[in-house]
Amino acid sequence: MTDTYAVFGDPIAHSKSPYIHRQFAEQTGQDLAYTRQQVPSAQFEQAADAFFAGGGKGLNITAPLKLDAYGYAARLTVRARRAGAVNTLARQPDGTLLGDNTDGIGMINDMHNLGWKIADQRVLILGAGGAVRGVLQPLLEQAPASVSIANRTLHKAEQLAKGFVDLGTIEPLGYESLSGRQFDLVINGTSASLSGDLPPLPDDLLAPGAACYDMMYSAEPTVFLQWAEQHGARHQADGLGMLVGQAAESFYLWRQVRPEVIPVITSLRRSLGAKR
Ligand code: ATR
Repeated sequence: MTDTYAVFGDPIAHSKSPYIHRQFAEQTGQDLAYTRQQVPSAQFEQAADAFFAGGGKGLNITAPLKLDAYGYAARLTVRARRAGAVNTLARQPDGTLLGDNTDGIGMINDMHNLGWKIADQRVLILGAGGAVRGVLQPLLEQAPASVSIANRTLHKAEQLAKGFVDLGTIEPLGYESLSGRQFDLVINGTSASLSGDLPPLPDDLLAPGAACYDMMYSAEPTVFLQWAEQHGARHQADGLGMLVGQAAESFYLWRQVRPEVIPVITSLRRSLGAKR
């Protein structure tokens, strides 16, 4: 029988996950079906119960349900616990549900595919919300020279830093404290791009040769990547590769097979451009 998977979220109509996982399945010859389902937060438990009772093997979980899924999973991977959120549920052979979070490793793998160096780099992350918390453990594991988090609301950056002290030092900053500082890798994890906003960044923030990564993606360069271009970044990338990367790790958790991400990123990029 064909194994079934789905992505839950709200809204979900524009989710690229069904396309990505069908491409992975085709590439690797895996027999699976993957659908999308709009699930409001209040109905998460009921919808997940029904999905797994019907024989479903695994779910991807997107906004705003990652905390619901965190509470729902019977067991959590270490990285999901650190992230405080679950983007992947996998039914185990004993019937229990494992909650994982593949967002952070998806971003790190994308940076590796881009040929970017993380080890020994001075890393600055903009934002201190759920998206940022999701990537901190995998990022710290790459042994950067330093990790700083700038946030509009300073105490949220301080709280995040405290939660990871056993894994490494994170310096919490307000945006005003960035003046005079330089970084080799700047990651935008704020939701500001969604509304076309940019946190206030000093003109000389980027060290020579710096790379800028936006966790968001869009057909046109995001405002942050436009800023990066204007301020001398050598490398820039948006979060399309992170999206495909997190999907690849979910696929691996479910199927124990590693799909190729590059052809899927390329075809998604092409279809984004075509809608311009
Ligand atoms: P997500 O799950 O996408 O991380 P979130 O948890 O609501 O969403 O976090 C959004 C992040 O974007 C926060 O760090 C927020 O800053 P505050 O903590 O100060 O609210 C940041 N953010 C959103 N809009 C912003 C803007 N216009 N300028 C600067 N930071 C912004």
